[in-house]
This record gives sequence, C-alpha cells and structure tokens, in this order.
Amino acid sequence: MGETTTRSDDADRATSRADDGSDPPSPPPAPGGLPLLGNVHELASDALAFYERRAATHGGVVRYDVFGTESYLVTDPAAIRRILVDDHDRYEKGSMPRDRLGGLLGDGLFLAEGDDWREQRTAIRSAFFRERVAEYGDPMVDHARRAAASWDDGDVVDVHAAATQYAFDVLAESLLGGDVERERETVRAAADSVTERFDTGRVTSFLPEWVPTPANRRYRRRLTALRSTIRDLVAERRAAGPPANPGAADDLLGTLVAAADMGAMDDDRLVDNAVTFLFAGHETSALGLTYTLYCLADRPAFQRRVRREVAALGGDPEPADLRECPALTAAVDEALRLYPPVHSFFREPTEPVTLGGHRVPGGVVLTLSPWTVHRDERWWEDPETYRPERWLREADAGETVHGDDAAGPAVGERPEYAYFPFGGGPRHCIGMRFARQELRLATATLLRRLWLEPVTADLSVRASANTRPAGPVRVRVRTRDESDRTTEPSDTN
Ligand code: HEM
Repeated sequence: MGETTTRSDDADRATSRADDGSDPPSPPPAPGGLPLLGNVHELASDALAFYERRAATHGGVVRYDVFGTESYLVTDPAAIRRILVDDHDRYEKGSMPRDRLGGLLGDGLFLAEGDDWREQRTAIRSAFFRERVAEYGDPMVDHARRAAASWDDGDVVDVHAAATQYAFDVLAESLLGGDVERERETVRAAADSVTERFDTGRVTSFLPEWVPTPANRRYRRRLTALRSTIRDLVAERRAAGPPANPGAADDLLGTLVAAADMGAMDDDRLVDNAVTFLFAGHETSALGLTYTLYCLADRPAFQRRVRREVAALGGDPEPADLRECPALTAAVDEALRLYPPVHSFFREPTEPVTLGGHRVPGGVVLTLSPWTVHRDERWWEDPETYRPERWLREADAGETVHGDDAAGPAVGERPEYAYFPFGGGPRHCIGMRFARQELRLATATLLRRLWLEPVTADLSVRASANTRPAGPVRVRVRTRDESDRTTEPSDTN
C-alpha cells in the first residue's frame, strides 16, 4: 500500500467533522439518468469510462442509479479507507454480490457476513500463511516451465488464453493436491461454464440462473458435478484420516476439511469454500499475469531489466528469491495498478453514514473502484502509462526499495487507498500473498526462457465480472537469448 499523506489526513478530518455533526453533511451530487433505467445505458456501453467520467466531473462520492437501485461511486481514498478499515463493521457486502454470485459461491468466505464470516476467515487463514503459500511455489514454477516449453521461437501466443490455463492449473493443484489429475476434467468443465455464465459480453449472462438457456443448463449441470466431486474427495480424505489441524494440511482442500472437522463450518460451507477459492482465485490471477506480460512486452527496456534480474538467480525462482527481485515485483505491482483485475467491488452501509462530507443512506449500493482510483491523476503522474519505475526508489545505500508481502510504497506522496487492487481492511483478499507470489514466479520463470515482443498494439479491456481484455492479447515469443543483440531495445513510451 502507498504512504499516508497530508492530503489523506485532511480528507479524513473533513469526514470526521461531518460525522460528529458540527459541519452538516450534504447529499452527494446526483447527476441525472433516464427514468426507470437510471444510468444503465452508460454502464452497459462502457462502465469503466462511465466511472472515470463521473469521478472526474463530480468528485469522490457521486450517485448513480441502476433500474431504480440507488448507488454511489466512491473514489475518494479517505472515504474508501473509512469503509474498508476504520468503520468496516458499519458495512456489509450486501445484496448486489449475493444476487449475482450466490448461486456459485453459496455461503463461503467471499459472501458470508458478520460472525459467520469471521469464524470462517479465522479457520481458513492458516492456508495463506507465508510458509504455506511458499509450498505452492512448485506448481507455480512447474506450470510456467511447461507453458514456455510448449512454444517455439517466433510463435504468436494469446497470453490471456495461456495465463487462464496456467492460473487454472495452479489453483486446481493447490486446491486438490494429488487428486487433481483424476478430477481435472470435471473442474475444467465447471470453470469453462462459469466463465461463460459471467461473461457480460453475452446477452444471456444477464438472465437469471434459473432461465433454461442451454448455457445456464450446462452451467448448472457442471456445477452440480463439481460440488459432488468435491464431496466425494472430502469423504475419501476423511476415510484416510484428515490432518490434525488446518495448519498441517498440505493443500487448500485439506485445510477446509480440517476446519470443518473442528466445527468451524458445516460440509455445505466446506464445499462452498472450495468452489469460492477456485473461482475467486483463478480468473483474477490469470488477468494479473496477462496484463503483466502484455505490459512488459510493450516496455522492452524494463523487460530487459527484469530478465537480467531473474537470469542472475542461477536457477528457476523459489519464493524466497522474490525478495531479491525488485524490478520483477515492480512490474507486477504496476500492472495491477494500470489494469486491476477486480475493477470494482461493492459494500452496503447498514445505517446512514457520512462519506467525504456527504450523507449517504443505509442499504444503498456503494461501488469502490480500484480502476478509477488507480487512474486518478491527483495520485498518479501520467496515470495511463505503464511505468514500473514508480515503484522503485533508489535508497541511500543504492539498493532498491519494494514491497514483498504487499506492494511497497510507490515513489511520491499519495493516500494509502490510492492503490488497492486486493481491497483492504479485514476483508482484503485472503489470496493476496498467493497471487503476488504466483504472478512473480510465473513471470520470472517465463522471462528466464523467453523474450516477449508486442503483437496486439492497443489493449482494450471491458468491465465484465472482472477486467477482461476485449479480444486476444497477442505477443510473439522469442526463445533465443536476446542478449546477443547488438542494439539495446528501447521503450516507445
Ligand atoms: C491478482 C489476483 C487477485 C486479485 C486482484 C484479487 C482481488 C480481490 C479483491 C479486490 C477482494 C476484495 C473484495 C471485497 O472486499 O468485496 C478479494 C477477496 C477475496 N479473494 Fe482475491 N484476488 C486475487 C486472487 C485471489 C486468489 C489467488 C484467491 C484464492 C486462492 C482469492 C480469494 C479471495 C477470497 C476468498 C476473497 C474474499 C475474502 C473475504 O471476504 O474474507 N483471491 N480478492
């Protein structure tokens, strides 16, 4: 996370003043939409541009409406911090994510609220402790090695397709361990159907799950098969004797079984959580890797810097090596700034609240948008340019400063919540350490073998469930070592 600055403190103080009633808050600006439809047409045509326009024109808390649902876009970093951290117990995830994702994720961690959420998070968190995440390093490197080996010099590769396959393989193996080979097809088929069902590029994705379209029927059938496979695996593991405690399990499913056996969740929630990990963790990581590789292909000089860094490791990277790789870390952190895989997420205040000096009623939808905040030129110089150097500060002794577990502070002054690709506060992404390790290990393993050249010239993305590319993201891979080139590649931006 970035540094907290005077600007953020000022904004915080302004919010507190309003909260204690001495400076009466006003309603947020509410630039109009169409009767009944509200702002649906603008959201449907380009939600990301709509958010950017609203925030730039009307400030950090602004109203919009979706079919009569009162919604507020919150892009003021101080207000975001208040929602996610300081006053987090005055907010729920609310009905928006539940209506959309409830059929898939059930009552697992992602959608649970209150005490139920707290108990689940406590029971599960050991699976994401540093030492446990380090154990998932092998599949993260192995699958990247395999991908690199499948390409020949000069091949044009769709990195989005390749990264999706990669992140799926890593997550399926981390979740199911040795059982993955046997169950790969069931899991794969369910994953394909989920991607199809939540692809807002398809009109049918807006229909409720119960409408019997062929895609919906396929989706329900495959999800039922996945859930029953997970139940069978759980039964097998119990028969074999589960580990004594969640921290001793060697894959994510083992942690969940141990947590259930200790009474932290029932078997329905266990299955909900297995499905939750699979789907909260694989598309997001795939997108992070896609954008990192695309951006590095487009910035040859920085790609070269990362290549030198990872070539110096002497072998394929281990999780502990990542501390020695500031340029690699900066490359990933900057890709997650420019193209945050989760472009926005939602909260609902359980009571009336004051945000950014405005009075906001309880029960409305608050949209928190990393995409919009990460591109705000008040916090980021030249925000639309991929510039990993902004995460690297030459420290006094000449070493480069960067973050390890979470992104380090970028150079320059800005509020903490000017950067939040993984959310924040107690409900921040539980998979953050896993994902940051995976993105860096995959990028390092690939760049030790490959040189990437841009083919797709202008990346265009759209706000589907996540920030998806609008089409294939092509790069040309070179398997020959580019260091024998006489001319140093230069960046175009
Ligand atoms: C680059 C990759 C990823 C990004 C950008 C990302 C982003 C996010 C964000 C923004 C949230 C917060 C949502 C909210 O507060 O409403 C979240 C929550 C969550 N993420 Fe991730 N995520 C990533 C990878 C993963 C992985 C690899 C896993 C699992 C293995 C995972 C599992 C979860 C879960 C279970 C939650 C809900 C946590 C809770 O509510 O307690 N994510 N993620």
